[in-house]
Amino acid sequence: MVMDMYQETVRVLWNKQIGTSYFHMGLSCYHGYGAAMPGQFVMVRFPDQITPLLRRPFSIHRLITEGDTTTGIELLYKAVGDGTRKLSLCKKGDFLDVLGPLGKGFSIEERFRRIFIAAGGIGVAPMVFLADVLRQKIGDLSGVRLFLGGRSKDDLLCKDVFLSAGISVCITTDDGSAGERCQVTGALEIDVKRIKPDIIYACGPVDMLKCVADIADTHQVGCEISIETAMACGIGACLGCVVENRRSAGKYLHACIEGPVFNTGEIRL
Ligand SMILES: Cc1cc2nc3c(=O)[nH]c(=O)nc-3n(C[C@H](O)[C@H](O)[C@H](O)COP(=O)(O)OP(=O)(O)OC[C@H]3O[C@@H](n4cnc5c(N)ncnc54)[C@H](O)[C@@H]3O)c2cc1C
Ligand code: FES
Repeated sequence: MVMDMYQETVRVLWNKQIGTSYFHMGLSCYHGYGAAMPGQFVMVRFPDQITPLLRRPFSIHRLITEGDTTTGIELLYKAVGDGTRKLSLCKKGDFLDVLGPLGKGFSIEERFRRIFIAAGGIGVAPMVFLADVLRQKIGDLSGVRLFLGGRSKDDLLCKDVFLSAGISVCITTDDGSAGERCQVTGALEIDVKRIKPDIIYACGPVDMLKCVADIADTHQVGCEISIETAMACGIGACLGCVVENRRSAGKYLHACIEGPVFNTGEIRL
């Protein structure tokens, strides 16, 4: 399905620091986001268009709605470099230039009951929107389990949002400061072996996604991953985001158009 995308100047509604280097931002957007799907993203630029020169991609973390109308979007981001650090300084009432919604999101089938979601660090950003849409489409979320991993307890975000939606949460950290001391994929594999889910959705660092893809392959489970390759344009023009097409040797797919969500059978990471 081809969706409309919009470029607009949007107002910052809030921009709160929620951890050592994590921020939660609300933006009022006027067009098009009512039909957005979890996993889709926006490209953000500062109105001065000088630093950074290029837009930066961010997943839609959640929709802001008033009644039946979608009036904005939320972003959840980690300050890692010039662009995100500048974003972190934005205040309520500032303006940003936003292009979206872009890309292809997660596919959700109403028949899905047992759903595993694996999120590593800031990879949790699109998963709150995913949980919102799962609740609309399948209602009861008691069969949904989130595997939330981070380097330490400071990298675990949104746990309570998932718990209050009725989703069970398994926490892992690399340093053992919260939950199990292991990688999130270790905990995921134990549960996949116990009861095969209908689908695995995942977002996080590339090594984690490779491991999730291997688990899905080994246990013959459908799996969709959202990949965070570098993106300069977000609309298929620069070829900066291409990933190898697993089904067609020597061919590539644009992460910004055919992704960022891919079935693990489609691409070679
Ligand atoms: C589709 C998509 C959705 C994304 N969603 C989110 C989100 O919801 N929240 C969020 O915090 N980030 C998200 N990202 C990553 C985000 O776009 C980058 O962190 C951001 O562009 C970095 O910009 P910067 O100017 O701050 O850092 P830069 O100065 O460009 O880079 C600083 C450091 O971060 C590294 N870096 C840059 N981009 C990435 C990346 N994509 N993945 C890993 N490391 C990177 C660079 O290698 C460098 O070491 C997403 C990326 C994509 C492609
Ligand atoms: S980001 Fe430019 S082609 Fe995908």
